[in-house]
Amino acid sequence: MQIEKHSFLVTGGASGLGESVVRAIVGQGGKVVIADLNESTGQALVDELGDNVRFVRCDVTSGDEVQAAVELAEKEFGGLQGSINCAGIAVVQKLLDRENNPADLDAFSRGVNINLVGSFNVARLVAASIAKRVANGNNTESANEKNADNGVIINTASIAAFDGQVGQASYSSSKAGVVGLTLPLARELARHGIRVMTIAPGVFATPMMETIPEKAREQLEAGVPYPKRLGNPNEFAKLVTHIIDNAYLNGEVIRLDGAIRMV
Ligand SMILES: NC(=O)c1ccc[n+]([C@@H]2O[C@H](COP(=O)([O-])OP(=O)(O)OC[C@H]3O[C@@H](n4cnc5c(N)ncnc54)[C@H](O)[C@@H]3O)[C@@H](O)[C@H]2O)c1
Repeated sequence: MQIEKHSFLVTGGASGLGESVVRAIVGQGGKVVIADLNESTGQALVDELGDNVRFVRCDVTSGDEVQAAVELAEKEFGGLQGSINCAGIAVVQKLLDRENNPADLDAFSRGVNINLVGSFNVARLVAASIAKRVANGNNTESANEKNADNGVIINTASIAAFDGQVGQASYSSSKAGVVGLTLPLARELARHGIRVMTIAPGVFATPMMETIPEKAREQLEAGVPYPKRLGNPNEFAKLVTHIIDNAYLNGEVIRLDGAIRMV
């Protein structure tokens, strides 16, 4: 699918990996609705990038708010061709603390709710919008022809889905859930010509990572076989734009991690 003239919902698009995706799509002539909780950075991006971008304050766990974001794209850009779900949080807590008290259940659930349930919520509402548009004959790609690439849903997992560290129970299991969504959704949406892909990033230099101490960051960089550095968000965005463009990528999880394996 060509990015030019098509429109995409980017959740978490006000920061980090999502922001980089917004810049890449707009840079290639596409249109974006940013759905994020952070109004000031989201609106600043709209002001900078211009008329091909809209911002809507949106919590990915809310059915009503994601539906409003989808409807904004339908109204402003004539429909959606896909979503890139980058909204996410990192919850860090051990099952037992130093005094052997049990973990806080609400904190665990919050991570699963935003990272996993949010991904499902966005996928279901974006898929419904694309499927209805195609069923109504308003198919911007190639007029309902066989194998038309009608839409693409890209989720963001993490290498923590496979290589979870102590303290990452909520994060790792939520991201493993995102990995688990990929194949069943791709199989189900095949009949609508909608692809579903997941990217599992290693360690990227985004605001999420700025909270970790310098020493820990250096250790992380040393643990990457090659290249020995954190990932640059534009390397994530390059993979996203390639997935959008390459119609044979479907139902797969791609690690983007410089060969790091967390131990
Ligand atoms: N940075 C990394 O090293 C790394 C590695 C693996 C996976 N990831 C994943 O990539 C995604 C993006 O991470 P990032 O590093 O760019 O983080 P980030 O903190 O820079 O950006 C995340 C964005 O998501 C938004 N957000 C959070 N909760 C939301 C909600 N409920 N609804 C809507 N928006 C919400 C935030 O406001 C923020 O703008 C996350 O899912 C993260 O788990 C990041």
